[in-house]
Amino acid sequence: MGIIAVKGTNDIYNEQAEGINYIEELFSAVCNLYGYRRMDTPILEYTEVFDRSSGDSSDVVRKEMYTFLDKGNRSVTMRPEFTAGIARCINEHKLYATEELPIKAFYYGPAFRYERPQLGRYRQFLQAGVECVGVDSARFDAETICLAVSFLQMLGFEQVKIKINSLGDEASRKAYREALTSYFSAHIDSMCEDCHERIKLNPLRILDCKVPHDHELAEGAPKMKDYLTPESEKRFYQTLSILADNGVDYEVDDSLVRGLDYYSEVVFEVSVLSSAGQDYGAVMGGGHYDGLLSALGGPQMAGVGFAFGLERLYLLMKDKGLLGEPEGLDIYLMPVGEGVLDEAFALAQIVRSLGFSCFLPDKSGKLGSQFKKAERRKAKFALILGEEELSRGVAQLKNMKTQVQKEINLEDIEDELDEAFGESQHHHHEE
Ligand code: HAM
Repeated sequence: MGIIAVKGTNDIYNEQAEGINYIEELFSAVCNLYGYRRMDTPILEYTEVFDRSSGDSSDVVRKEMYTFLDKGNRSVTMRPEFTAGIARCINEHKLYATEELPIKAFYYGPAFRYERPQLGRYRQFLQAGVECVGVDSARFDAETICLAVSFLQMLGFEQVKIKINSLGDEASRKAYREALTSYFSAHIDSMCEDCHERIKLNPLRILDCKVPHDHELAEGAPKMKDYLTPESEKRFYQTLSILADNGVDYEVDDSLVRGLDYYSEVVFEVSVLSSAGQDYGAVMGGGHYDGLLSALGGPQMAGVGFAFGLERLYLLMKDKGLLGEPEGLDIYLMPVGEGVLDEAFALAQIVRSLGFSCFLPDKSGKLGSQFKKAERRKAKFALILGEEELSRGVAQLKNMKTQVQKEINLEDIEDELDEAFGESQHHHHEE
């Protein structure tokens, strides 16, 4: 075997590449509708960006980061998520001082986590997400959730249900951590190695433990909602009522705590089962944060955001038949005879300049095999250029679906293509 891709990484090509591109374009469009602008931060950050922001108790930061020393002996990390880098960027360029608040940024691209690869879980994966930074309001929390739901609906998902919870403010979480510590202390001897650490670092993390025995114990643990301060409780219900008023279907989930440490107040996730009932894990997760910018040396400013996992989203869309047919080519150009190759090249350039996609093979070939290739490329029309045709300044334009063939004058190619594509209702020509 030759050289293969790094474990946990994926090559993305053909239908999957087209599907993911479609998802990214729709995501950009929905973000624009909500007044978001693209923000692109580097994949590589100084390690402290994640150390300081995502906390010491998250598995992502403690165990899963791709961290190494560069040639100048600086510790750098390939981003395990985007939020910390966006916060670093807002701080570094003081965008909070020059832009209208909230700053609304959207992004998509690769992220890296050293996890055990399995279906829907990779070491390099794609995220698409938003951050809304600089205004501390239940309304922006709700708007962010509305955006995520609109996006899923525009992709064709029906009955999107958001799982939602509140982690409360600092005081709420402190009281809750104490309650969890005393609850789990009574059982800690029977729990897994990781939970022995979690109880010291952050007992909330135990609620996420996948070990069946520990998971059972977690179900009997005290509930966050009983420890929310009156302010946090009020804020949570305000968010929920905005969502209800705007037709967002949600389900409050006591056990939702999220895997990164920067969250406070509202947190949310969406998981969708495949038709066969398979669980690829959450397609989206997010929430509100208060101390992220300040932890990175910036001002005390709140934010809210989420990220989708695009491979999971793609798998689900494929499973549910939401991807549709790939576009295919407008024109498969068929040179017949070695003497027409230069003219065919020039003709392909003209066709493309008119706004029609066109594939030209490298050599002349038998018509039968050229038609097979054109079908495989889902071409709408074949444009056949033979030596005899060339001498008369014409070509044959054949509709691949109806099989109707027409001789066209190359001097009138623009009108001929407009007419042909107008009739076949796949008019791509940009005026
Ligand atoms: P997260 O829940 O860690 O949140 O990741 C968001 C989504 O990324 C997950 O729901 C999942 O779909 C996808 N994902 C995560 N890890 C993997 C993996 N190993 N393989 C494939 N997909 C994966 C965050 O990253 C936060 N930054 C979201 C956020 C933005 N919170 C506030 N603002």
